[in-house]
Amino acid sequence: MNQVERGPLRAAVIGCGAIAEYCHIPGYQNHPAVGEIILCDISGKILQETCKKFRIEKGYADYKELLKKEKPDLVSVCTPNYLHAEMVCAAVRKGIHVLCEKPMALSLAEAERIRKALIAKRVKFMVGFSHRFEMLNVRAKEMLASGKIGRPFMLRIRFGHEGPYPGWGKTDWFYDKKKAGHGALLDMGIHAMDLARYFLGDVRGVAARTATLLKPIRLDDNALMILEFESKALGLIDVSWSSKPGFTGSEIYGSGGTLIIDYERGLQFFDGEKAAWKRVSVRSEPGSWEREMKHFIDCVVKDDDPEPGFLDGVASLKVAFAAAKSAAGGRFMRIDNRARRA
Ligand SMILES: NC(=O)c1ccc[n+]([C@@H]2O[C@H](COP(=O)([O-])OP(=O)(O)OC[C@H]3O[C@@H](n4cnc5c(N)ncnc54)[C@H](O)[C@@H]3O)[C@@H](O)[C@H]2O)c1
Repeated sequence: MNQVERGPLRAAVIGCGAIAEYCHIPGYQNHPAVGEIILCDISGKILQETCKKFRIEKGYADYKELLKKEKPDLVSVCTPNYLHAEMVCAAVRKGIHVLCEKPMALSLAEAERIRKALIAKRVKFMVGFSHRFEMLNVRAKEMLASGKIGRPFMLRIRFGHEGPYPGWGKTDWFYDKKKAGHGALLDMGIHAMDLARYFLGDVRGVAARTATLLKPIRLDDNALMILEFESKALGLIDVSWSSKPGFTGSEIYGSGGTLIIDYERGLQFFDGEKAAWKRVSVRSEPGSWEREMKHFIDCVVKDDDPEPGFLDGVASLKVAFAAAKSAAGGRFMRIDNRARRA
């Protein structure tokens, strides 16, 4: 008997910050299979405001108490990065399906603990790599798979905004190394790394450079990464926490054409055979967060495996940690511009 026949699912959201408010709570409220939603936040003020805004009755300050007393069917982990692995493991061990925000962990040792918990309890697990659910990217991926641009050999992804706090996040953990892990490199970079893998497959090497250019913080606010894929294609990722609006999206160059995925202006395709640009029409509704939530809940209902799952989560973490290592100590060849011609 599947879960829908047994009655409405009960979902919990741990961490009632910005992503919970814009993505997870509405996602559960909009899905017909979900009956009750229970919230948790360590801040009494945030918990109270969120319960009121979404007309939700049950709220907890302690996530362990919530998991024990309520035994929800599904849980979203929407807390600061350093809490993800601990909360995921606690929920999985209780047999609860988990949608975890990115990054799913702050070390490969934490990821290994998640893997072990998942092996012991066969629950659904998904990582919130929402860009995979952006329809421009879905359409581009279909075009790549059908060979529209031939063999892809070069990719560039750029994600930038003015930084997560203030403006987006309800709390300022983003700028605390212990809680966030890294700055823009991990916060925005992990989305780009997952998207790069979604388009071109696994990454086998990375070099990176990070800098703190505009924000008065101790973490990187800008990062550049050069990727080499298993396919031998090359990639460039640039992410920023200090950018006014500019290009956001990806460019993919292939032996027979080009795809430009511009989040503001849509999807364009250069057809090498016809030597012509074409605008590809892509429907934008529902949005990526809505589609992500629907996918996760549908997978629980239908007993399917959600994607991106654990292996995608860990593959992107490996790229991110290798990039951070490269940025911290890797070789960066300096050019001596002081030398004058004889
Ligand atoms: N997928 C996306 O597009 C996307 C976008 C933004 C953020 N995120 C991710 O979502 C997560 C949360 O980010 P945010 O922007 O919502 O941050 P936020 O600061 O707005 O929210 C975090 C919330 O967690 C609560 N919290 C902290 N410790 C807690 C604990 N021990 N128990 C319960 N609640 C606790 C805080 O009080 C706060 O309300 C991060 O991992 C971030 O990387 C994903």
